[in-house]
Amino acid sequence: MKVLIATQKPFAAVAVKGVREILEGAGHEVVLLEKYAAQSDLVQAAADANALIIRSDKVTAEVLDAAPRLKIVVRAGAGFDNVDLAAATAHGVVVMNTPGQNSNAVAELAVAMMIFMARTQFTPATGSEIQGKILGIQAFGNVGRLVGVKAKALGMKVKALDPFLSDEQILAGGAEPVHSLDELYGGSDYLSLHIPALPSTVGSINYELITKMPKGATLVNTARKEVIDEAGLEKALEDRPDLKYVTDVAPDNLAALQEKFGLRVFATPKKMGAQTSEANINAGLAAARQIVDYFATGNTRFQVNK
Ligand code: 3PG
Repeated sequence: MKVLIATQKPFAAVAVKGVREILEGAGHEVVLLEKYAAQSDLVQAAADANALIIRSDKVTAEVLDAAPRLKIVVRAGAGFDNVDLAAATAHGVVVMNTPGQNSNAVAELAVAMMIFMARTQFTPATGSEIQGKILGIQAFGNVGRLVGVKAKALGMKVKALDPFLSDEQILAGGAEPVHSLDELYGGSDYLSLHIPALPSTVGSINYELITKMPKGATLVNTARKEVIDEAGLEKALEDRPDLKYVTDVAPDNLAALQEKFGLRVFATPKKMGAQTSEANINAGLAAARQIVDYFATGNTRFQVNK
């Protein structure tokens, strides 16, 4: 089978080597499309592919229409909002993710971002410490749980809200369960977002929620830019000069935010939460193994469009 690795933001070379070894070792052919300039490059490259490994690359209906031999798409990572699941299902294409494989990298970045903001973006201004502060975690999945563990080790008090988990499960993950957004936002010096971008979450982090945060609080977003109501965030930062926002997924109004709020806002130049060799290896190799397994045995354990 022909497996296309299409990564606008490439995996580390060591990960690509490992992915190749697994796929070629199982008799598959590998084609690499990295740092491509236009979506049409992906559409073209997918035309004769039987399988696709992607990161945040966009698998739209156009890509699927142009790829009649495609059987499986594996998103090497957690979020699959970049894949048109309905179109994939209509084409009989199995879509999988590789949950947990890049979580540690994202969690480390979330913690680093808290310290970076506490220390006023590493400028000489007097900063603060995160020890003793309260961290609220919105969605206690693979990344959220790891953020909690690391934050606790640094002396933070950790609370978490997750409507899909019981109090026992949250306690087992080392956090204090919280049962409403009001309670979570109202009691968190740092609020770390780990929700996916879904119709129900897009734009959900709005002015009302953000301004519930206590004096001096910081909102940390390593999740998705779409979950933020950007106008609401801007107004919240305007009305509350004590609040800060740090993100790995730059908002569309970043230039305005930076101009108005200076060191109170920071966005990475390019989403980099999962950009470590370790995460690339873990997620890339898992994706390759899932493809080999799918073609060999039909295993659909990580399918997300069932
Ligand atoms: C994910 O959903 O796995 C993360 O957001 C990482 O995305 P990336 O592979 O584009 O870095």
